Amino acid sequence: MNLDVKKCLFPVAGLGTRFLPVTKELAKEMLPLVNRPIISYGVEEALSSGCDEIIMITGRAKRSIENYFDRSFELENLLKSRGKEELYNLMLKISNMAEILYIRQREPLGLGHAVLCCEPVCRNEFFCVALPDDVFINPDDPVLAQLKKVHARMGGSVIALEEVPHDEVYRYGIAVSQFEVEAGVHKIIDMVEKPKVEDAPSNLAIMGRYILSPTIFPILAQQKAGIGGEIQLTDALKILASQEPVWGVLYKGKRFDCGTQKGWLGANVKLALEDPDLRQVILDAVKNFEGE
Ligand code: G1P
Repeated sequence: MNLDVKKCLFPVAGLGTRFLPVTKELAKEMLPLVNRPIISYGVEEALSSGCDEIIMITGRAKRSIENYFDRSFELENLLKSRGKEELYNLMLKISNMAEILYIRQREPLGLGHAVLCCEPVCRNEFFCVALPDDVFINPDDPVLAQLKKVHARMGGSVIALEEVPHDEVYRYGIAVSQFEVEAGVHKIIDMVEKPKVEDAPSNLAIMGRYILSPTIFPILAQQKAGIGGEIQLTDALKILASQEPVWGVLYKGKRFDCGTQKGWLGANVKLALEDPDLRQVILDAVKNFEGE
């Protein structure tokens, strides 16, 4: 089997209930991180990690994502006629960024179901999954590239892990390591989606980057609804781990959960502080408004 994973799936059909009311009408993936939408960070990570086929599992309320990555002749013509060369080139760059295939998830049945919707295009090969809410700000060593290195060396499926405080385990899929095969790489033998704090078997949380074996599809097809009444990818991964190797990688980098107000704000501040033009704006704002 070809170990160079080229496809990356982005489940984007979710309704964004953690970020209401703004997501009542706006796709959460289109909320800005400084001047680019959240989704573009994940897509750029996939491309810079060597994926060249982007597949979005989308829903009826998410047309703005398709439009963002598509050409806009009206806007391009306007920018060109007004001599705004730099912006014109930026628009072209975005629409030429990637070949994107869109698959509709017709019912909101969960992350596992979203992945299953891609079986027709990923049937016989390993593929990546990136959850766009999880934004990693470390462009030099993208998290998907870190997972791909482990996959290229060891084969099997690979998931991104982070050690979280015990009182936060209920927010994540939690993995159980059988042993650490090399520094930061664990052989995973069990997983549970969003356990209660008192029941959690570890504090190794699954973060939103995966390389999955196509063996996951027949498992997902049989999967019953799990916690929250949704078909959970974690439940299928647990079964996969009993059939094939699943490696957990403690990735290097800083993650922001941009599906929540706190994570989104944190990511904006971090990105602005890294931008030479915006850094002082943030520092001044904090200084001037503190204690008001
Ligand atoms: C999903 C996964 C969960 C994972 C999390 C990471 O949950 O189901 O296993 O830990 O993403 O962000 P969600 O946050 O979409 O409910």
